[in-house]
Amino acid sequence: MAGKDDMKERMVELKKQESSDADAQKRKRSDDKRDEKLMAKAEEASQKPVVDTEKEAGSPAIRTEGPVGLDVGTSHIIVAQNEKNYINTVKQLNAFFTIPISKFAKSILAKNDVLFFEQDNLFYIIGNSSEDFANMFNTDTKRSIKKGILSADEQEGITVIQAIVQSVIRKPKQFGETLCFTIPGDPLEGTGSVVYHESIIKRFLGTMGYFPISINEGMAIVMSELSDDDYTGIGISMGGGMCNICLSYLSFPVITYSFQMAGDYIDSMVGISVGEHATKIRTIKEEELDLLKEPKDRIITALHIFYDNLIKNLLDSLQRVLSSTDKIPMISKPVPIVLSGGTAMPNGCKEMFAKALKNYKLPVEISSVILAEDPLNTTAKGALIMAMTEAQQG
Ligand SMILES: Nc1ncnc2c1ncn2[C@@H]1O[C@H](COP(=O)(O)OP(=O)(O)O)[C@@H](O)[C@H]1O
Ligand SMILES: [Mg+2]
Repeated sequence: MAGKDDMKERMVELKKQESSDADAQKRKRSDDKRDEKLMAKAEEASQKPVVDTEKEAGSPAIRTEGPVGLDVGTSHIIVAQNEKNYINTVKQLNAFFTIPISKFAKSILAKNDVLFFEQDNLFYIIGNSSEDFANMFNTDTKRSIKKGILSADEQEGITVIQAIVQSVIRKPKQFGETLCFTIPGDPLEGTGSVVYHESIIKRFLGTMGYFPISINEGMAIVMSELSDDDYTGIGISMGGGMCNICLSYLSFPVITYSFQMAGDYIDSMVGISVGEHATKIRTIKEEELDLLKEPKDRIITALHIFYDNLIKNLLDSLQRVLSSTDKIPMISKPVPIVLSGGTAMPNGCKEMFAKALKNYKLPVEISSVILAEDPLNTTAKGALIMAMTEAQQG
């Protein structure tokens, strides 16, 4: 008799198991379906153009709805949101300027919609307004993230970044909204690490009500620009304080690093060489430089020289990093390099890069060098696409 009961019990158990397997399969199928839907939505978003909304002084920060992309760059902090037919971005200069506290100044600043906060007997004027003040005092603004990565002894920078982020976004409409923010790769030189930088920003965004996820800046470029290549290739962000490089294989950041030489380096080196203020050099660089044209004066000549120098240093580093790792996947076909960031913008930068590349033998074959569609907004767009694929609610 005992044998019969055993059999019965066993049958019941098997049935239970079967139905729980079926449930698990059903769940998996619906998870897969949801993931596919998210991927399709993200891919669709990567085809959309970016529309830059100018941030007017005094306009309130956005109350975000849906996933958010946040580019925490050394020059700008940019937020991206997915709209029906386009990607909307809003940016704020990641800089500040301090003046001594006075009651009079306070009312004038407030009346003129200047963004500021008080700390240690100083007014911290932040974001776009800081540039006007620096110009007025004939000096430069200060960067909140000096070398691209926040460190524990830069409390001032952390406070400024928090204030700037809060000037572009408020807490989300839905608590726990997914937000992807960009982080640099670990720097090649020195012992710095992005761990502290990443944790501080993550903690702060969490207290604002977001579910924050970090994404490497070079990876964000791949997410934004290489959907047709199955997210395989090298994304290079050439910004103000640093360049960020990522080799992605099928959307996995295989190799990432940062390189502390970029637009600011060009400005200061050219400035030193020709005896001019770096700010003046920056303006000429942004407005007049064409790397395909023969240089006419000594400032433009120096700009050519230091662009060439930056690109060669960058390629040296790429060769060094790629040759000294055993992480490189077997990629069956040549992969593209995408250049992005403000420093990649002058006419001829892509060509100069492609020409210099011919002198290097990298362990990965390169198919082409391309320039991102909208170099100043690519990173924020890529972070948004990542946020859309990670979002909990489709
Ligand atoms: N049109 C342009 N031509 C050349 N350089 C530019 C141009 N626009 C911006 N830049 C430079 O790009 C750098 C900022 O790039 P960006 O991608 O905004 O930096 P980050 O990611 O560090 O915030 C600065 O050095 C700036 O001078
Ligand atoms: Mg950037």
